[in-house]
Amino acid sequence: MVEEQAPDPRWGAPSRTHDPWLLARFRPRPSDILIVTAPKAGTTWMQQILYQIVSGGDDGFSSIYDVVPWLECPRKHQSREDTLREYEAMENPRIFKTHCTFEQTPGSGKVRIVLTSRDPRDCCISFYHHIMDMTEEGRAKAGIRAPSSFDVFFAKWMAHGAWFRNVQGWWPHRHAPNVLWLRYEDMKADLETAIDRVAAFLGARLTTVQRARVLEHCSFAWMKRNAGRFTRVSDWGGELFKPGGFIRKGQVGKERHLLTPEQEQQILRRCADMLEPECLDFLGLKHGG
Ligand code: A3P
Repeated sequence: MVEEQAPDPRWGAPSRTHDPWLLARFRPRPSDILIVTAPKAGTTWMQQILYQIVSGGDDGFSSIYDVVPWLECPRKHQSREDTLREYEAMENPRIFKTHCTFEQTPGSGKVRIVLTSRDPRDCCISFYHHIMDMTEEGRAKAGIRAPSSFDVFFAKWMAHGAWFRNVQGWWPHRHAPNVLWLRYEDMKADLETAIDRVAAFLGARLTTVQRARVLEHCSFAWMKRNAGRFTRVSDWGGELFKPGGFIRKGQVGKERHLLTPEQEQQILRRCADMLEPECLDFLGLKHGG
C-alpha cells in the first residue's frame, strides 16, 4: 500500500492517538462542537454534558464514543476513509472530543469550541491513576509501561507538557464568540450553572424534565454507575481499565499529597513562565495555588 503524502506539519506528528491525516481531511461545519480539553481535565464529563444537552437527556447510548467520537484518534480496524465517511454521515450538530492544540484544531475559527481547564496538579495525579488503573493487557496493547514510581511518571508528564500547551494555546482565544471556557472546579461546585451556561452557549432549550434528566446523567454518581459507557472500548475485545478506574474520584485538590513540594513548585514555576498573570489568576494559581 502506498502511504499518503505527509500532511502539513500544522496537524502534528502521528502517534497512537493522533492521526494528522484524519485532521487534514476532516471537513469542519459551523454547527460542529469540539471539546478541546487537556487530558484528565474533564474531557469525558464534557462529552457527556454536550451529548446530554443536544439529545435532551438521552440515556440509550452504549458508549459515549459512539455519539461523541475522538476526532484524531486512529481506529485500528477501520480505514481512514471509513472513519471520515462516518464523520460525514453524522447528523448536525456533530460533537467531537479532541486533545489537539489550538493550531491543530480543524475549523478553530468557525466551529463551536468548549474547553474545560482543571488545576494542573490534579490533572497530573489523575493521569498517573489513569495509567495505573489500566489493565496489564490494556497497557501492553497500547504500548505503555506502568511507571516504576510516581517520580518517574511525573518527569514524563512534565516533559510531555500537554496541559501547559493546551492552556497557553487557547488562552488568547478565550473571548472569541465561538469559544466557551469552563473550569472543572466551578463545574464541581455548581453543575447546574455550568450546564445552563453550556446550553445557553449552544442556544439549546431544554424543558424542565429534560434539564432534570441532563443533570442526573451528568452527575458523578450516574457516570460512575455507568462507567462502562464512558471507558474507551478496546479494539481487541478485552478490558482497557480495571473496575473503578477512569471515572475514578472526581475530586478537587484532595490528592495533592502525592506530589512532593518540589514537584508542586516545578508545576507552578512552569505555569508562571508560560502563562499570563490573568490566566494564573483565572486558574487560581496566581499565588502559588
Ligand atoms: P480523577 O482521576 O481525578 O477522578 P478526562 O475525561 O479528561 O480523562 O478526565 C478524567 C477525570 O474526570 C477523572 O478525574 C474523572 O473521575 C473525572 N470525571 C469524570 N466524570 C466526572 C463527573 N461527572 N464529575 C466530576 N468528575 C468527573
